[in-house]
Amino acid sequence: MSKSTRLDSKENESKLLPIYRHKEELILAVKDSTFLAVTGETGSGKTTQLPKYLHQAGFCKDGKIGITQPRRVAAITVAQRVAQEMQCTLGREVGYQVRFDDCTSQSTVVKYMTDGCLLREILADPVLSQYSVVILDEVHERSLNTDILLGLLKKMFSDSAKAIKGRSFPLKVVVMSATLEADKLSAFLSDCPVFTIPGRTFPVTSTFGFAVGPKDIESAGYLKEVVKVALDVHTSEMAGDILVFLTGKLELKRACDLLYEKRPTVEGLLILPLYGSMPTDQQRQIFQPPPSGIRKCVVATNIAATSLTINGIKYIIDSGFVKQLNHNSRVGMDILEVVPISKSESEQRAGRAGRTSAGKCFRIYTKEFWEKSMPEYTVPEIQRTSLTAVILTLKCLGVHDVIRFPYLDCPEERFILEALKQLYQFDAIDRRGRVTQLGKLMVEFPLHPGLTRAVLKAASLGCHDLLLPLAAMLSVENIFIRPGHPEKQKEADTIHRALAAKTGSMNDFATLLSVFQLCKSSDRPSAWCKDHWIHWRALKSAFSVETQLREILLRLQQRDFPVDTFDGDKSELFRRCLCTGYFTNVSSSSKLFDQEGKLNWIIFHDVLVTSRMYVRTACPIRYEWVKDLLPKLHEVDVYELSSVAREEVTDEEMIQWETREAVSTEDVIKKLEKR
Ligand code: CDP
Ligand code: MG
Repeated sequence: MSKSTRLDSKENESKLLPIYRHKEELILAVKDSTFLAVTGETGSGKTTQLPKYLHQAGFCKDGKIGITQPRRVAAITVAQRVAQEMQCTLGREVGYQVRFDDCTSQSTVVKYMTDGCLLREILADPVLSQYSVVILDEVHERSLNTDILLGLLKKMFSDSAKAIKGRSFPLKVVVMSATLEADKLSAFLSDCPVFTIPGRTFPVTSTFGFAVGPKDIESAGYLKEVVKVALDVHTSEMAGDILVFLTGKLELKRACDLLYEKRPTVEGLLILPLYGSMPTDQQRQIFQPPPSGIRKCVVATNIAATSLTINGIKYIIDSGFVKQLNHNSRVGMDILEVVPISKSESEQRAGRAGRTSAGKCFRIYTKEFWEKSMPEYTVPEIQRTSLTAVILTLKCLGVHDVIRFPYLDCPEERFILEALKQLYQFDAIDRRGRVTQLGKLMVEFPLHPGLTRAVLKAASLGCHDLLLPLAAMLSVENIFIRPGHPEKQKEADTIHRALAAKTGSMNDFATLLSVFQLCKSSDRPSAWCKDHWIHWRALKSAFSVETQLREILLRLQQRDFPVDTFDGDKSELFRRCLCTGYFTNVSSSSKLFDQEGKLNWIIFHDVLVTSRMYVRTACPIRYEWVKDLLPKLHEVDVYELSSVAREEVTDEEMIQWETREAVSTEDVIKKLEKR
């Protein structure tokens, strides 16, 4: 097929989408109102078509069209698709921007981006003066950043907001969602009009399994069942592609391996994994139709539930689980957990089989599991993850009273208070809840606030060359290759252990730093990676991330930048800097005493929970290094930090706050020791 006929066919294909018949009406609706809510089944063409229509209708005359996505893969793949349809090179008229990857140029007028990116743009330009239209997409996913953007856009247009009137041309806001939250959205955005794209869906029959219940949360339990059902479908069902829902990248890999093993006996199955951090060229393959006579089997994370639509799917295999970031107040941090999906999520997954004809959904879990262990709806992210970073953003945007910010669904107040407390501990806000100079520097980094704090500490001591590479390494995916073959695995293990020899553990912060440095300084970095069983692609992105972080730092250092001194042992410097950012994640380690009979302590980056709790990426420290920081964990009264809210709190709330007893350092240590 020649290039131009392929493009024509894409253009024609898009005319078959349900949204196409409503093109003119939609353009009018956007012209007529400031806020517009658009809903329609997933796959009806909202994400790919509406921006294109608005572009054709001349909305880019004054400014850009920006479309946010909660997931970076969605932003990238959709931009690719739309660039193709509009027959332009990606990065020219149509581009995308996600964290650490900007594929836009001066000529970009249709810009897909993650919601986090738009939030950063608001920080630099509070009325988004470059945009004529902002489209918040996938609002039903209720990602934290999208929820915050909703509140900010609402506030931007509120009566007292004079700034927006100072713009030279109007700003239009469209919110798009797959499911029926439209009424709630409309009510939130001053009863804005709702445009519903009539759907075209076919019936999907769902069946429950017999084998899997809540106890099978450890992957191996349901993984085998998923693979078995997939092979059954392939051998006994009519033509049509399969979409399997699992929870995470490693699990996908295991499922794909198991399927590959069976492949000689089961012919004609094209197995494709699909996950968030996947390389772009591989993502593209997912959308291509399989060769004739071949059945495609996409093994995906929840990303395929709404953000991405793959044509030709007729069979769904639903594991019933999802990997979710949940805030754990007890340990005071976000934890990645594998949990049962909600009932509404299971309906959404099943629905993916009925887009072009009737389909089937095989739920591998029991009916009882569905009834008893699955909640009705998924809790919005804002009500279950740490708010520290967004609260800092809000504060920097001048939203001082973060408790009474217009939230679509209010987070629990204690989560807000906890975020304020953490910001205070990082010196990002003062006792009265006002942003400090340091807080203003911190908000500039697209990193976790704790990590940013450590980077800034290092920079103030002039040793950021130690922390920037680490921050970069923590921002990319796993760097260690785990070969499937047992012999090769042994070889890789030996080499990885040698890399970690100085620090003792592969998951040590210092090992990550040393891998970065060794690779960077080698003559042939890619060959170095190959020899050491390290993912070259991950290292390459780490190099790029480090450069970007360095640029941010350089820019900030031209402002009023703090300068510190350090008179301790230089070899400790790296770990001591880390302590300033991670002292809230401190724990006594499993090997309790070192050779000198001193208690061993560790600070850690994150925690993963399946049926067990894993501390990932950590590093040993000395208790003396955090001793002086620990009082900060309790010295401030959260009530004082949220002082703005004080006037109007009820007596009952006041009592609740005041009885929230201040814990002593000893208490904290005791609690941590029990972990
Ligand atoms: O946003 P909504 O769910 O309403 O639909 P969409 O994402 O705009 O998808 C419309 C169509 O474009 C679907 O048939 C997708 O399969 C197709 N598409 C594609 O082929 N390749 C992409 N990278 C993105 C979408
Ligand atoms: Mg969409």
